[in-house]
Amino acid sequence: MNQRSFSQFSLGVCDYPEHVDEIDWAEHARQQRKLGLTWVRLAEFAWAKIEPSEGTFEWSWLDKAIDVYAKEGLSIVLGTPTATPPAWLISKYPDILPIDENGQVKKFGSRRHYDHASEVYRQECRRIVTLMANRYATHPAVKGWQTDNELGHEGTTVSYGGASEKRFPQWLEHKYGSLEALNQAWGNAFWSQDYSAWEQIKAPNLTAVRQANPSHRLDYQRFCSDMIVEFQQLQIDILRDVCPEHFITHNCVIFSAECDLYKLTKPLDFVSWDSYPIGMLEFFADWESEDVKTEYARTGHPDLVSLNHDIYRGLCDQRSFWVMEQQCGHANWAQYNPIPAQGAVKLWSAQAWAHGASGVIYFRFRASHYAQEIMHSGLLHQNGQPDRGYQEVQSFDPGIFPTNTQNSRVAVLHDYDSLWSYNHQPHNQDLSYWYQFVMFYGALRELGVSVDIIHPTQLKNKRYDLVVSPALTLLTPESAKSVLDVAPYTTLIFGPRTDFRDQYGKAAKRGQFEQLAPIIGGKLINFDSLRPTLQQDVQEEDDSNCSFTASLWCESYDVDSAKVLYSYRQGPLHGQAAVIQYKQTITIGALSKGLIKTIIKEQCEQLSIKIEEMPDGVRVTDCGSHELVVNFNQQRSSWKGMALLPVDYKLIPKVEH
Ligand code: GAL
Repeated sequence: MNQRSFSQFSLGVCDYPEHVDEIDWAEHARQQRKLGLTWVRLAEFAWAKIEPSEGTFEWSWLDKAIDVYAKEGLSIVLGTPTATPPAWLISKYPDILPIDENGQVKKFGSRRHYDHASEVYRQECRRIVTLMANRYATHPAVKGWQTDNELGHEGTTVSYGGASEKRFPQWLEHKYGSLEALNQAWGNAFWSQDYSAWEQIKAPNLTAVRQANPSHRLDYQRFCSDMIVEFQQLQIDILRDVCPEHFITHNCVIFSAECDLYKLTKPLDFVSWDSYPIGMLEFFADWESEDVKTEYARTGHPDLVSLNHDIYRGLCDQRSFWVMEQQCGHANWAQYNPIPAQGAVKLWSAQAWAHGASGVIYFRFRASHYAQEIMHSGLLHQNGQPDRGYQEVQSFDPGIFPTNTQNSRVAVLHDYDSLWSYNHQPHNQDLSYWYQFVMFYGALRELGVSVDIIHPTQLKNKRYDLVVSPALTLLTPESAKSVLDVAPYTTLIFGPRTDFRDQYGKAAKRGQFEQLAPIIGGKLINFDSLRPTLQQDVQEEDDSNCSFTASLWCESYDVDSAKVLYSYRQGPLHGQAAVIQYKQTITIGALSKGLIKTIIKEQCEQLSIKIEEMPDGVRVTDCGSHELVVNFNQQRSSWKGMALLPVDYKLIPKVEH
């Protein structure tokens, strides 16, 4: 694999010359250079502009635009335009369109309207990507490619019919070999679901009663995720062949949940993602309270933004990544889309660097005066006048940020099989994988700890002192082995539901912790899903004054070799263990942020991992030679006697600190 990373922190912008008059191009490129931008991303939705009808090509506008940016010294990332198959192509091959959960065909008229498994569409993509790659392979300003755009986003990973549904039985046959094995793996004895021919197996939607078999759903999700990986690989193969000097990346999305990003991003040179901190809190974080949403309405929440950065850095083994779309004004797609606070664009850019980004590309240069994103801002207003983000970028100097050499001692484990299994059967309408994950991650960040977020199988790449595993409910044998391998020399903290399911999504036959039994020292007795009006007190065994209130989820354990650290003080689990410890492994069964934070804090202290209680909205990130302190509050704050301005950051060399 052609691995690259960039040591110098640089900035750029997403631009759409095809949306503005040609007469404006030169001025836009000149403004971009004067802003200190060095990258521009182009053409990721431009298929119909390049090929307005089948076999008729209009390259001249893109040739000219590229030359205009090149003249100003900008380097170019081209998007393969496959997220938007043109109308003529859909008319010719309507079967390309995906099918929604209600069995309806999704129509042309927006974007991402294709089934990743469609062979016809894949062939069309090969054709356009080959033509585009050949045309720009040797242009000196073109340096890299973005495949498609936000693969799987906006609910487009899964198509419940068409090419996907047709291909699914083959995928299953390849995986299981026989129908007996599949029936066994899915537990099809239940409700007489056994299959006697591969073609009988369909997509898991519109089943007669509301829930399909969770193992069926899990495999369909895995299959659709694999289809995206295959779909992208076809493009990567062409680009590698035709443009061997160019880098290849892909722009993933906020809290991406539908596609296995560890698989999707593996063949890339580096990973990118699209950061919209305000929408991230408003639209994606449905677990956050109205108070939190109000407090951070104009900045986004620092932990939600950094969590995504840490995930994307982890996907490329801690090498640097890019933010391919950085919010730089109000967006248009959340329930509410406030203007960012003064300073937020600079703050987000600096925070991205602190968490490992080597490139921040703002979305977008000039606001569109037509179509779906009329209400979205850019660095320039629709009339071409600079908007607030423009002024901020103008005064942001990426040159002050040194090479980031962060090296965390703490890992947080993340995995898509667990995410899917958890969310298919949350057993409590207020719970989700991300809710539980954020509880543990947030506790670490509130304690000033910088972390790596990795897949369990990446544990073999680097030695960590503390490994926190918030919600690994499904462990494949490979993941379980990786965890067991590091257990003798690592402190491990597990959250509720850990190791509850086998690789097929079934509950483990011998009970929870079937695979991790040697390091847990106990077994599940029961789990209790609490409505929001119910709570359970949890008390420390050695100190009756120390107690916490758990909500939404409590599970209790029977110990053999483990020691009970906390137990329940009321309700059906009264007297049973809520937190247990065996050697250096702690298992937490009760959802209480205070409890989780206390346990993490004690373990960090024991391991001499530096912790410091951070004020609300203030966070510190270890960047190797420096620390970056960010203040996401719209009021002044202070940290260690240092004054922090509202919505601002400070880069602090470690020696002076
Ligand atoms: C992203 C997408 C962009 C644009 C942007 C608006 O998800 O990649 O094309 O739609 O959102 O915020």
